[in-house]
This record gives sequence, structure tokens and C-alpha cells, in this order.
Amino acid sequence: MDATTNTGAKAAKLSLGEKSWDLPIHEGTIGPDVVDISKLYGQTGLFTYDPGFTSTASCESKITYIDGDEGVLLYRGYPIEQLAENGDFLETCYLLLYGELPTAAQKAEFDLSVTRHTMVHEQMTRFFQGFRRDAHPMAIMVASVGALSAFYHDSTDISDPTQRLIASIRMIAKMPTLAAMAYKYSIGQPFVYPKNELDYTANFLNMCFAVPCEDYKVNPILAKAMDKIFILHADHEQNASTSTVRLAGSSGANPFACIAAGIACLWGPAHGGANEAALKMLTEIGHVDRIPEYIKRSKDKNDPFRLMGFGHRVYKNYDPRAKIMQQTCHEVLGELGIKDDPLLDVAVELERIALSDDYFIEKKLYPNIDFYSGITLKAMGFPTTMFTVLFALARTVGWIGQWKEMIEDPGQRIGRPRQLYTGAAQRDYIAMSKRK
Ligand code: SDX
Repeated sequence: MDATTNTGAKAAKLSLGEKSWDLPIHEGTIGPDVVDISKLYGQTGLFTYDPGFTSTASCESKITYIDGDEGVLLYRGYPIEQLAENGDFLETCYLLLYGELPTAAQKAEFDLSVTRHTMVHEQMTRFFQGFRRDAHPMAIMVASVGALSAFYHDSTDISDPTQRLIASIRMIAKMPTLAAMAYKYSIGQPFVYPKNELDYTANFLNMCFAVPCEDYKVNPILAKAMDKIFILHADHEQNASTSTVRLAGSSGANPFACIAAGIACLWGPAHGGANEAALKMLTEIGHVDRIPEYIKRSKDKNDPFRLMGFGHRVYKNYDPRAKIMQQTCHEVLGELGIKDDPLLDVAVELERIALSDDYFIEKKLYPNIDFYSGITLKAMGFPTTMFTVLFALARTVGWIGQWKEMIEDPGQRIGRPRQLYTGAAQRDYIAMSKRK
């Protein structure tokens, strides 16, 4: 219920028995207002309860805004569609980190700074040798990104803004190199070093697909598509992995360790692992004739099967990224001369059926960014195990930007949620001889 405090500020009134409290309401630029409960426990002895944080704002942020009902995604106020159409990934990185689009001079300086940090310490190549060749690349990424804190002691003091900036640039710059190394290691090919004359995404594709025995020319259409895919994945407000990075960072952990925590969280099939799971699902369905069987299973509460790449905690409309992803998928398949991809046929028909099905309409389940990305990445030559690595590569700037915003917040404190305890009340120890 709306109230106003004695200062005239907007407040919500909480009443419990004879007592009542005014809880301040804060208004954002756009989007829902928030009820400030930070003093609730001290005033009332009560906690709030919101497992999954469906109604909880964990922080204030100026970076990304999502309107789930309208299917809107803004990076620093700019619509994702306009950024994907008009800019490149490093421009989006600059925007997310600094809050404004760069001038030409700022962009050139930023690109050069990233380019100059793309190499990793040569000892990292020996670090990789410890893995089995069939290690999942995400396992390698969690480990190798965490290991960066063992190599770059000169940028782990988070209280020093200069070191924070260097660590941010290093993370953005080295993720493609580590991702390409994880891929090369898994297929038994030698690592390919970064080439400074290539732009960020062309350099990544070269490190993935070039081999020492012949010249490799990056396809500019595919590089542009990959760059657009990176833009789509760059940030997404307080999703599970970003919240993980913020929570890890709130303890003062160094940025490399925080990003490693984010990568670990992203790996889950309910989150960033959904692109790999979605392609496996489309492959398992195999043919449009089998779609009804899987639609039926996805509605069955006793069946753990879910339509991977469908549904979203926030989007209750079409994920704007999925639309761009679908267009990019057609561009890539067209450039590669893939006329009829059976997986795409299944995906398009599955989407058509699901979007006309009452269950999906009622629960507002739409394709999300992961639904078409797997088909695109597979066509580009990546194995399914690399899909979430590519997501992590792109999301690194979002994680770093959100981590930076949190560290620079003067009110920043360690995150420490409480709980609803339903375990045993206090009881005395029972000697072994007396246990039944
Ligand atoms: C990402 O948060 C982000 O921003 C994440 C992300 C980002 O950029 O960081 O956007 C990236 O993680 C995208 C989501 C990728 N995951 C998937 O595609 C996996 C499949 N989707 C579901 O697991 C699910 O939709 C979630 C995890 C995405 C959302 O889960 P919620 O918000 O907890 O929703 P829910 O599981 O409570 O579902 C609500 C209802 C349930 O039915 P009821 O219990 O109410 O009867 O919808 C049903 C669910 O059973 N449902 C599905 C479904 N997703 C939800 N039914 C069938 N197929 C699905 N995919």
C-alpha cells in the first residue's frame, strides 16, 4: 500500500498486528519501483523470503535494462537491435564498461589496448597439458581463467582503479585466446597465437580454425556474424552467472577468480549451457514428425524434459536476441551454402507449433537466445561443447562491467543472504552407545 514518510518520500506501509512500518520506495529511470527492505530485519525481526529471487532486486545498476513483457533489451539505454546492426563487439564492450559510445579516437585506443593484451603467459600452455584431450572446454575455461590470478599479480588489487582497469582489459582480451586454446587442445591441434593485424573476432576465428601448415583466410561474413553473436550475449542484467560474479566480488576476491565463478555458473543447462542442450534436443528430435511427442513430454510434470532454448525468467515475450539470432542463423547458413539444414527445419517447426500451443501461450514461453544459436555455431564449425564457451567469451565484458560497477559503489558490502530455517531445533548430543 502506498504511503509517504514524514519527509514526503514514497513508502510502502507494512502492517503486522498493532505495529506498522514505512518502507521507502525507490524509483528507477524506467522499470519497476523497489521497496527498500534493507532495514526490515532490524526494525521487525522478519526476513523476506524469495528463493530464486523472482521479486528481488539485488543491486542498483546503470548498465542493462530488460523489459520482459515488451521484449526490450537496452545496453546503457541503447536497444540491442541498433547496437547489433550498427556497431561491433568492442564498441559494445566500451559502452558497457564506460557508459557511453566511444568517439573514433576512444574506440581506436580501446581496440589497440585490447589487442595488446590478447596473448597469455606462455606457461599457460603447460597448464593446459594437464587436461585430458576429451576434457569439456568449459572445465578448461573455469580452471584456466581462475589460474590467470596466478599469473597476473600486478592486477589483482581491486582497491586500485588502475589495476581494476588492466584486469578488465586483460579478461576481455584473453578470453578469445583461452577459448581458442581450449578448442585446439580438444582436437589435438597446436595452439595458434593471436595476430594483431586482425580485429577482435576475426582474430578469434583465426585462432580457432587456422593451422600452421597453410594460410587461413577468415570469412568476413562469418566474422561479422560471430561479432554480432558476441554483442547479443554481452550482458543481461542480474542473471545467475552475473549475480555469482557480483557475490564473489563482494568478498574482495580478485576479478579473475570472480569471472571463473561466473563461468562455472553459466555452464548449467538452465543457463548458458542451454545452447549446447538445445542443439542436442533438436538432434534427438531429429525430424519434424517427432515434434508432437516432445511437446507432449515438455508439458508432463512427471517428465524432466524441457524444451531447451525456450522460456525465460524475465522475458514473457519474444527474447529480442532470439529474433536477431534467427536472422543471423539464416545469414550464416546462406553464406555457407547450407540450403536445407534438418535441424533448422525442426527448430522452425518446433517454434511454430509451440507458439500456437495453449500451454506455451499461457505460460508465456518463447524462444530465447539459446534456441537458434546452436544451429548457427555448428554451421560455423564449432562442436556443441564449445557453444557455452562462446557464450562465456562474450559475457565476460558483462561480468566485468557489473563487477566494476559493484566495486566502485561506495555503499558496497559483502553479500550475505539469510534463510528460512526449517531444520531441527536445538537438541543434545547422543552417545554412540545410546543411538538406535
Ligand atoms: C539464459 O537470466 C538470464 O538473463 C539468462 C540469460 C542470459 O542472457 O544471461 O538470458 C541466458 O540462461 C537463457 C535461458 C536458457 N535456458 C533454457 O533455455 C532452459 C529451458 N528453460 C527453462 O529451464 C526455464 O524456462 C528457465 C530456467 C529459463 C526459466 O526458469 P523459471 O523462470 O524458474 O521458470 P519456471 O521453471 O518456474 O517455469 C515456469 C513454468 C513452469 O511450469 P509450472 O511449474 O508453472 O506449471 O513454465 C514451465 C515450467 O514447467 N517451463 C517450461 C519451460 N520453461 C519453463 N516448460 C517446458 N519447456 C520449457 N523450456
